Amino acid sequence: MTEQVTRATFDEVMVPNYAPSDIIPVRGEGSRVWDKNGKEYIDFAGGIAVTALGHSHPTLVKAMRDQADQLWHLSNVMTNEPALRLAKKLTEKTFAERVFFANSGGEANEAAFKLARRYAYDHVGPEKHEIISFYKSFHGRTLFTVTVGGQPKYTEGFEPAPGGIKHCDYNDIEQLKGLISDKTCAVVMEPIQGEGGVIPANLEFAKQVRELCDAHNALLVFDEVQSGVGRTGTFFAYEQLGVTPDILTSAKALGNGFPVGAMLTTEKIASSLAFGTHGSTYGGNPMACVIAEAVIGIIGTDEVLSGVKKRHELYVEGLKAINDKYNVFKDIRGMGLLIGAELVDELAGHGKDFFAESANQGLLILVAGPNVIRLAPSLIIPEEDIKAGLERFENTIKVVLETLSTK
Ligand SMILES: Cc1ncc(COP(=O)(O)O)c(C=O)c1O
Repeated sequence: MTEQVTRATFDEVMVPNYAPSDIIPVRGEGSRVWDKNGKEYIDFAGGIAVTALGHSHPTLVKAMRDQADQLWHLSNVMTNEPALRLAKKLTEKTFAERVFFANSGGEANEAAFKLARRYAYDHVGPEKHEIISFYKSFHGRTLFTVTVGGQPKYTEGFEPAPGGIKHCDYNDIEQLKGLISDKTCAVVMEPIQGEGGVIPANLEFAKQVRELCDAHNALLVFDEVQSGVGRTGTFFAYEQLGVTPDILTSAKALGNGFPVGAMLTTEKIASSLAFGTHGSTYGGNPMACVIAEAVIGIIGTDEVLSGVKKRHELYVEGLKAINDKYNVFKDIRGMGLLIGAELVDELAGHGKDFFAESANQGLLILVAGPNVIRLAPSLIIPEEDIKAGLERFENTIKVVLETLSTK
């Protein structure tokens, strides 16, 4: 018999690094999710920008089941057909010529940062080891990736942190000019900062970052863990910035919920991760790779990518209409289906109230920091779900404003 568990079980058996709500989702289909009590939610969150093809997409379910009947695991000392097929597709779709598979975004970034250091070590020497990244960025939770990430709250108490890492304000090219030098091995950026508040890079800034990297013989690393795999309306966001990175990382939507990460790069740079320098037991897992292959087979189509742009318009129009009535947002921004709505100053810090009330209203949303409501729905969410979800969002706003006004 299945053991019965409740929200209270979390406090009894789990490390308290999360604080889950007491909603217990048990089933999902497309952009709808149902909890244990049968309550239905419209999903504008997609996990956290993960389920880009919604829940239980039949093609993905079939790919997973077929592989489950064949072979679950292969070590990296064998030739792995699903991994090679996926790597071929990723190289065909991008600037990249070589791929390393990991299990998460953090691990893909860990590989990227190690590769950047190793490449500089091989071609220049150990003194060229500095990494520059941006405040408010997020790159994962390993000690190296939190340190490269630009949010000190995530490294506090875990020191000593890896050295040789500097931070710069995002979209501030003059500051970057002051930090970059011939000791810099890599500049790391998200083309649109996700966790940091849904902040897109300026096109001119991105172009100049590329030029500065070239001038200082530093690699440009794009973390597309959140922005990639169709999220912004192109397969990767770099295509819209007109800037090609040297290394790119992907995860989240790549497996639509099945753990997989990838680091993509050129043949020349990849050669620095020579035999024996890096590895992962599960990286390239056949189950993960057949699912990811099916994911990119669907998301890589013009139909899905142009649908993202159309849905972006629907969301922005809907949010603007809501804002015209309630005046709650000072900015509505984002790319494709990574959308941020920043609360007006009077509501600053209340993002979590909207998050909590939306669940009462049958809607799953996200926040990015205390002041930004973040939406990252399925890329194929039906238009009627967008409409119905925005109605629930409007109800959320009404209730939160009423509650705050009575306090
Ligand atoms: C841009 C970015 N990079 C890296 C990560 C870390 O990915 P993971 O949690 O799969 O390690 C995230 C997760 O939110 C992310 O948004």
